[in-house]
Amino acid sequence: EVRSERDQIVELLTRSANYYKAQLKQSPRAVQYLKNRGLTGQIAARYGLGYAPDNYQNLESVVDDYASNALLDTAGLTKLSEQNSRRYDRFRDRVMFPIRNAKGQVIGFGGRVIEKAEPKYLNSPETPVFHKGHEVYGLFEARQAIHKKGYVLITEGYMDVVALAQWGFENAVATLGTAVTPDHVQKLFKQTDRLVFAFDGDGAGQKAAWRALQACLSHVNEVKRADFIFLPTEHDPDSYVRTEGPDGFEALVAKALSLSDYLLRQVGSQFQVQQVEGSSAAVAFLKPLVAQVQPSVFRSALVRSLADLLGMTPVELSSHLGLKRPVGE
Ligand code: GTP
Ligand code: MN
Ligand code: MN
Ligand code: MN
Ligand code: MN
Repeated sequence: EVRSERDQIVELLTRSANYYKAQLKQSPRAVQYLKNRGLTGQIAARYGLGYAPDNYQNLESVVDDYASNALLDTAGLTKLSEQNSRRYDRFRDRVMFPIRNAKGQVIGFGGRVIEKAEPKYLNSPETPVFHKGHEVYGLFEARQAIHKKGYVLITEGYMDVVALAQWGFENAVATLGTAVTPDHVQKLFKQTDRLVFAFDGDGAGQKAAWRALQACLSHVNEVKRADFIFLPTEHDPDSYVRTEGPDGFEALVAKALSLSDYLLRQVGSQFQVQQVEGSSAAVAFLKPLVAQVQPSVFRSALVRSLADLLGMTPVELSSHLGLKRPVGE
């Protein structure tokens, strides 16, 4: 029986995940770290959290042929030393977050340091089974809750996902340290009609939200909607739900800003729309954005709102935006 390379890689990753999980139980320091972050054993088990001990060849416990098994490198679990060509583990002394695909197979890991060190998070590299730009952390675990709640929460980090789940928001996922792509958005809209983005309140999170809006433009319409939660500067979803509790976070979800309101707010704050120069510059800014929105009831309503903001008629704005189907009065 010949097994595909893909299957063999998944098996190595699965065995490693089981190993890391067992090691967590042996490490009071790692367990304490997770407890200090407010997590229970139940949630740790739900997400399959583990610990990679502080040794160079942990995974010798997982395979018999560690020294000669090049597939470990392909799987992103090990690397060859440039000095002596000896194989060593990529993940050492880190809390491990297994990343699963839609089938629940382990396809990669994120690993966090316990004490302050750089890099804070280490991710699996791109491998034959792991592609960061389109995988979503926590989607497998979140699927049922997404259907039940009717929306998915999209965050920046592993810890945000796990902490939100701890507080009753099991419908949370994260991108893997990359910006939200249209690929991510398409994948998520297959699960639900409502995406709610909840990025960190800092500058990086605000930038990420704007990138997410752009990634959503070609997918939203009167049925599929995207909303945005903006947290106080010093918070991320994890810290917010821990300080304000689930009711506090629920209140943010309830008053999330819609994509259209977010867009209108950005235009209104970036341009002096009462002036000729400002409103014409705003049109130039909007043209490539609105061009991505599919002709729909949503797009017509959006163009009407934008026209109102810019002091033009919808017909005028449609024409300036080069829309083939102009929006009437
Ligand atoms: P905690 O500090 O554990 O609460 O993590 P966080 O998710 O709040 O971290 P942060 O907001 O700094 O970063 C958000 C996400 O970016 C993380 O979850 C990681 O996916 C990614 N990230 C953060 N730091 C690093 C890093 O040093 N290297 C890489 N590759 N990714 C990182
Ligand atoms: Mn793929
Ligand atoms: Mn951040
Ligand atoms: Mn955090
Ligand atoms: Mn954060």
